[in-house]
Amino acid sequence: MNRNERAAELEKRRIFGIISHPDAGKTTLTEKLLLHGGAIHQAGTVKARKNAKFATSDWMEIEKQRGISVTSSVMQFDYAGKVISIMDTPGHNDFGEDTYRILTSVDSAVMVIDAAKGIETQTKKLFAVCRMRGIPIFTFMNKLDREAKDPLELLSELEDVLGMPATVVTWPIGSGLNFQGIYSLAENRVYLFREKKTVDLGDEGVFGPELEDLITQNNLRALREGIELLEGAGYPMDEEAVSSGELTPVFFGSALADFGVTQFLDRFLELSPCPGPRKTADGSEIDPLSDEFSGFVFKIQANMNPAHRDRLAFIRICSGEFEKGMTVELARTGKPIKLAQSTQLMASERTNVDSAMAGDVIGIYDTGNFQIGDTLYTGKERFEFELLPTFPPELFALVLPKDTMKAKQFQKGVQQLAQEGAIQVYHNEYNETVIGAVGQLQIEVFQYRLENEYNAPVRLSPMDMSVARWVKCEGSKDDIDRIKSVIDGRCALVFDRFERPLILFANQFTLTYFKERHGDVELLEATEV
Ligand code: G4P
Repeated sequence: MNRNERAAELEKRRIFGIISHPDAGKTTLTEKLLLHGGAIHQAGTVKARKNAKFATSDWMEIEKQRGISVTSSVMQFDYAGKVISIMDTPGHNDFGEDTYRILTSVDSAVMVIDAAKGIETQTKKLFAVCRMRGIPIFTFMNKLDREAKDPLELLSELEDVLGMPATVVTWPIGSGLNFQGIYSLAENRVYLFREKKTVDLGDEGVFGPELEDLITQNNLRALREGIELLEGAGYPMDEEAVSSGELTPVFFGSALADFGVTQFLDRFLELSPCPGPRKTADGSEIDPLSDEFSGFVFKIQANMNPAHRDRLAFIRICSGEFEKGMTVELARTGKPIKLAQSTQLMASERTNVDSAMAGDVIGIYDTGNFQIGDTLYTGKERFEFELLPTFPPELFALVLPKDTMKAKQFQKGVQQLAQEGAIQVYHNEYNETVIGAVGQLQIEVFQYRLENEYNAPVRLSPMDMSVARWVKCEGSKDDIDRIKSVIDGRCALVFDRFERPLILFANQFTLTYFKERHGDVELLEATEV
């Protein structure tokens, strides 16, 4: 393809992730989006996958047992001339670093909120990652077919809890048994829920006569009041603010009833960005239309087949074109690597791909060459993409091999799992292994895999710590001695893989207490390291 053809292709690409609190409706919405894209033909497919019906490998037993999905993947589908990739962010109890990291590879995010519950904890955490990256965030208020909070209250929650002003694209008419449809502001049109028809409104909009016999008096009154308030005090659509992630377009609907979903999808595709340039570690940018290939590994899915210990490295292509069998440089080692077996994940199947381009996500079978965050490129200039951020673990455990004869397998397993980004690995001053995770399942999977894949059963002792802070220092012996002298029973000292010291605290309270007493010890959050 020449540059113009590539530019046209790039413009069609969209890569986004869906963030939500468990049960808000992420799976259901994903499924409806895929159905509209013709990527699946039967409702229930994604759900079934979520229930691990299609899980093939042994360690996915965990998924089956718990009825959740540990592995996340990418689903690509075509809709309205666009090539859309949804990055599946694990959402349930399987919440882990992966969930955060995937958000570093998307260009926009869709936040699904259960309209009866409003903003919940997990949404807040994921939102923070998106906000940090300044990517556009679109909000889908779901489950309007059930009793929901007042829509204005939901908007204020976005602003008060998340600090995110919202601009309304569609507005609900009632909820629960009284749910009658949505009003699309820009189109000046009402979509009726039960009647499944649309009503174009006149110059007076919702204040005109068109709706009078179609919706209940209560709903009409509430709708008019709502729109009046929005006209007076709401935020108008500002595409620039949306694209810089400072204003979220809000949609209402029901994923389950597939209502309000196409209105959402159509507008989302207009407003969301296609893949842009990506920053490198030295602060320059890689143009997605460059002739040279580049990409980075944002996820490694291990053990697709435990007999071969094979892994699938997910690569987001940032520039140029991928051709099956091509040789690229691995920036971390400077070594050439042939990208032989590649795959692309469709909604319900894997298909082999021979070529792909910037804005596509491919999976490469890997025998242990790749690490999370690795940069791959062609061309003479060696460079690395900006490091993927580290996310602060909240759960910590001391890990020892049950069988000391298996120390070698244990070390190997720990090292590989850390490389995959499955877990954070630290050690304490006695050189014992300490792991850190953001979700409990991450720890369970770690334990399960060490035992089943590496034949190294482990004993885990959870540590009563939930907050980690790095200590700013040169790392000299004097520095470390000084840090050791301030460690007491309420905190613990560990070192990360770069031998940087960090202190673990039981909770925010003990951290504050520590800071009051040791103002001279400079503590850094994960994002500042
Ligand atoms: P998640 O991926 O965010 O965890 O949520 P998921 O889509 O699995 O939805 C959680 C539950 O909420 C499911 O019910 C789903 O059917 C329901 N749900 C999703 N969207 C809507 C909606 O718009 N309206 C209503 N009324 N319900 C919705 P479940 O009982 O857990 O599963 P199932 O038995 O229905 O499959």
